[in-house]
Amino acid sequence: MNKPDFGRLMGEIETLLNRKASRDDILKELCRLLRKKICYYNWVGFYMADDQKKELRLGVFDGEDTEHKRIRYGQGICGQAAASRETFLVNDVSKEKNYLSCSPLVKSEIVVPIFKYGKFLAEIDIDSHYINAFDEKDRDFLEKIAKKVAEIL
Ligand code: SME
Repeated sequence: MNKPDFGRLMGEIETLLNRKASRDDILKELCRLLRKKICYYNWVGFYMADDQKKELRLGVFDGEDTEHKRIRYGQGICGQAAASRETFLVNDVSKEKNYLSCSPLVKSEIVVPIFKYGKFLAEIDIDSHYINAFDEKDRDFLEKIAKKVAEIL
């Protein structure tokens, strides 16, 4: 997989996150930017956590609409990441039994939890149409973004 210049992109993302606009406008723009700049990021979105109901709710996203607007903790890749509070990288979704499919085109997925003052607040979810799309560089990049996004949540 041809990797982008993550360092340069991070600069653009920091500028975007410092903009004066509503939280959702900034996050929507972030989804668009990631999808536009990284050819194998084919769906980019945020799920917001309701820790009392143990449920994720779809927030802003860029890509095809999905039927998975609410996901219970433990269900699918997003729900498993919510339950474990850890980044979950799936290289081949066809091999993951606990998976909620949005589109048959999706082949791999990464979900990164977002914390603020230790509290689990949301997740970044990326789907790719390529198998083995994500590696440690993507994980580092997205975990850095998660820390920056936490500042505006
Ligand atoms: N595939 C996810 C569901 C959300 S979509 O990717 C947008 C999952 O298994 O949790």
